[in-house]
Amino acid sequence: MKKHRVGILGATGTVGQRFVQLLENHPQFEVTALAASDRSAGKPFSQACAWKLAGAMPDYVKEIVVEPIEPPLDCELIFSSLPSGVARETEEAFARAGYAVISNSSSYRMDEDVPLLIPEINSEHLGLIEIQQRKRGFGKGFIITNPNCAVVSFAPPLAALDRKFGVESVFVTTLQAISGAGYPGVSSFDITDNVLPYIAGEEPKVEIESQKILGRFNGETIEKANFIVSAQCFRVHVIDGHTASVRVKLRRTSTLEEHRRAQMSGRGQLEHLCSAPHGKNGTCAARAALALWQIATGKGF
Ligand SMILES: NC(=O)c1ccc[n+]([C@@H]2O[C@H](COP(=O)([O-])OP(=O)(O)OC[C@H]3O[C@@H](n4cnc5c(N)ncnc54)[C@H](OP(=O)(O)O)[C@@H]3O)[C@@H](O)[C@H]2O)c1
Repeated sequence: MKKHRVGILGATGTVGQRFVQLLENHPQFEVTALAASDRSAGKPFSQACAWKLAGAMPDYVKEIVVEPIEPPLDCELIFSSLPSGVARETEEAFARAGYAVISNSSSYRMDEDVPLLIPEINSEHLGLIEIQQRKRGFGKGFIITNPNCAVVSFAPPLAALDRKFGVESVFVTTLQAISGAGYPGVSSFDITDNVLPYIAGEEPKVEIESQKILGRFNGETIEKANFIVSAQCFRVHVIDGHTASVRVKLRRTSTLEEHRRAQMSGRGQLEHLCSAPHGKNGTCAARAALALWQIATGKGF
């Protein structure tokens, strides 16, 4: 199979390094360009990047010279992991220059013509691309975003419930790992032996992003999901892997067995991802992993 040629914006950062790691020997993608700030541009990746992840820096990137974050880059696809302040203008420049931009940054997530994508549950939102291209005059380029990492942890099982029973309201408590704050992230004085009961700006993101992700594409726009989400976000002393405790009020009564079946059909789709966990290799964080630990009924609502 011919591989897609990928450029990574923000390649020297912690998310950029994760891209570099996940794309090593990938069956569909090949990294052909790396870009970062003026501090790094012009240097081989091995010199520009202070590698932070477990395991060594992959050999395949070491000699690639880091470029500035401006088009052209030698690739078709852009995976962007730039800070949100820089991302908006830069990602637009790449889309305008004809690149497909897939962004980890929050800057375009809530724009109404930009898909906020978890492909296994809302791939029909890709219909927005044509509208975006027309509206912004992008030609063949476009921007797609991925969700906040806390939302990704519970959106797939929530989508399975919504499809089967209809969701009326959601109360979610997230226990978010230190890695989600990037590097250097949370002060060690604050997080060591502690649980932090607040993450600035996180709760509104969890609430509004989940309504967009589970919304319906009507051919023109996304109609937000018709349920209330109330979130409380904690930072916990765990390096990688977020946990979410989710209480859901459904629109119809259901049995535990029906829930299990609804969730199994959702998981089937996740298992087809080529980045899903295979065998026992790799840490949870280096893979697209979602584990559903417990489903229980309750009378709390
Ligand atoms: N979707 C998710 O699940 C998720 C999870 C975590 C983070 N994020 C988002 O991903 C993005 C990156 O986070 P991170 O933790 O990887 O950040 P980071 O470690 O600080 O890395 C930032 C990267 O952007 C580059 N950069 C910074 N300022 C720049 C500028 N003015 N011009 C050009 N390049 C610049 C840096 O290059 P130098 O090394 O050369 O300075 C570095 O490569 C953020 O928007 C964050 O919110 C998303």
